[in-house]
Amino acid sequence: MRIDWGIAPVSEWAVDVLIFFGIEGSFALLPGFQRWLDGQGQWITRSAALKDFQGKFQQTAVIYGPADSNVPRVLVAGLGSEEKFDVEKLQGATSAALRKCRDLGLNRVGISLQGLQGLPVPIDSALKEVLVGGLLGLHRFDELKTREIQSSEVPESLVILDEGEPEQSIRAAPRAAEAVASGICLARDLVSSPANRVTPGFMVETARGLAQRYGFRLEVIDAERAGELGMGSFTAVAQGSREPAYMIVLERFSSIPEKTAPLVLVGKGITFDTGGISLKNKDRMDAMKQDMAGAAAVLGVFETLGRMNAGGHVVGIMPCTENMPDGKAYKPGDVVKSLSGLTVEVISTDAEGRMVLCDALTYALDFQPAAIVDIATLTAACIVAFGNEVAAVMGNCEALTKSILDIGSRVGEKYWPLPLWDFYFDHLKSDIADFKNVADRSAGAILGGIFLKQFVPASIPWAHIDIAGTAWTDKELGTAPRGATGFGVRTMVELACTLAVLGIK
Ligand code: BES
Ligand code: ZN
Ligand code: ZN
Repeated sequence: MRIDWGIAPVSEWAVDVLIFFGIEGSFALLPGFQRWLDGQGQWITRSAALKDFQGKFQQTAVIYGPADSNVPRVLVAGLGSEEKFDVEKLQGATSAALRKCRDLGLNRVGISLQGLQGLPVPIDSALKEVLVGGLLGLHRFDELKTREIQSSEVPESLVILDEGEPEQSIRAAPRAAEAVASGICLARDLVSSPANRVTPGFMVETARGLAQRYGFRLEVIDAERAGELGMGSFTAVAQGSREPAYMIVLERFSSIPEKTAPLVLVGKGITFDTGGISLKNKDRMDAMKQDMAGAAAVLGVFETLGRMNAGGHVVGIMPCTENMPDGKAYKPGDVVKSLSGLTVEVISTDAEGRMVLCDALTYALDFQPAAIVDIATLTAACIVAFGNEVAAVMGNCEALTKSILDIGSRVGEKYWPLPLWDFYFDHLKSDIADFKNVADRSAGAILGGIFLKQFVPASIPWAHIDIAGTAWTDKELGTAPRGATGFGVRTMVELACTLAVLGIK
């Protein structure tokens, strides 16, 4: 769907359908809608459809006018009650509205800027969220379908209508929204794609495409080189797979000439997790194609930053490999030496995420980072704790954790903190190595964080995000169809754009 501007006197607005929003339990309509009704849309006020519309979240009502008029239909989309309003409601309502337009086969959809007045968000960010919600709501992953494919893109365009030239921050919203949506959709497509397509090599090619398109530096470390460098933990996981493994490094330099310390984003890139010799149960093992969602989110961030040409100095490190059972696979009981020099006793080969991330974290230190954020589908325990709607965040820096929570609530991604108190480390004590990779089942998500904490000096602000629950959805969400969600992209993009003002450094 294209986004266009339609700057013209209200009487000249011409679209197949014009979208407005409605709030539940509010007698008064939003002021821009009311104004339009008083001027152009008096026919609507006589329609029973408007009277029946309650404004419930994601409720839509299509009101039909004279077929020969410039605006033959109005679609009102419910935002829910004012008390419960947040950006997710605005995104979800727009998504519902545009899906309805798609079902009706409507091509030219209008949205009035004035119609966004009266919401508890500034109009430029309201517009951005509306556009992000619309683009995400319409996104589908159908590259692998050969039958029942939708041949044309419906709606073709979303026209932002206004009577006068809008100010700069509003003008910038479509480009920013398209950049964000394309980053999220890239992450979604990579995660929804099966593991026989998205191999570590495919991740490299995707990173290469981004590097070429946007001028990022790309470094690809293959397993042999990783071994030479001393990444014994990463190569231990990789050695069980016939698919070549890679540690991918993408670097975006800031436009500011002086050298600034980067934000380093580390993403778990297990393109398929069988559990290895600690083999997983056969039930829903197919879901483990999603185990590279952290790395996919990092690639998504680079797609967005590349399109926006914003974001300061950012490095992405993505350890990518399969985790397979094989004659050469690493085994429970093995002791491996990580890049940091620390030795790890492998109790479960299914705790492979932390095994690849720890070497990526150590590699991150070479960049003298201002902060490190890692993102991973790390533990089933995180799903037990938070379900599929909320990601866990932990780390060594309250300011960083808090900014992730705050950014998340601003952009519609939910995070909640878990503690990394030192006594938890006792669970990981090993008789023969520096520590073990897992303990028993208790405090599973926290122990993942405690393990990773061993590899980051306390002086470097670091956060670990566990997206085991949020990377995928089995039910259709407000702005995501069933499948991958692209969770984390937006938060990390915002972080990359605001880190300098956090006072971290
Ligand atoms: N990739 C899994 C975690 C996961 C589970 C992600 C479900 C998404 C959905 C991870 O590698 C894993 O297997 N973790 C183990 C850790 C355990 C052995 C300490 C787990 O959570 O069971
Ligand atoms: Zn695993
Ligand atoms: Zn895994």
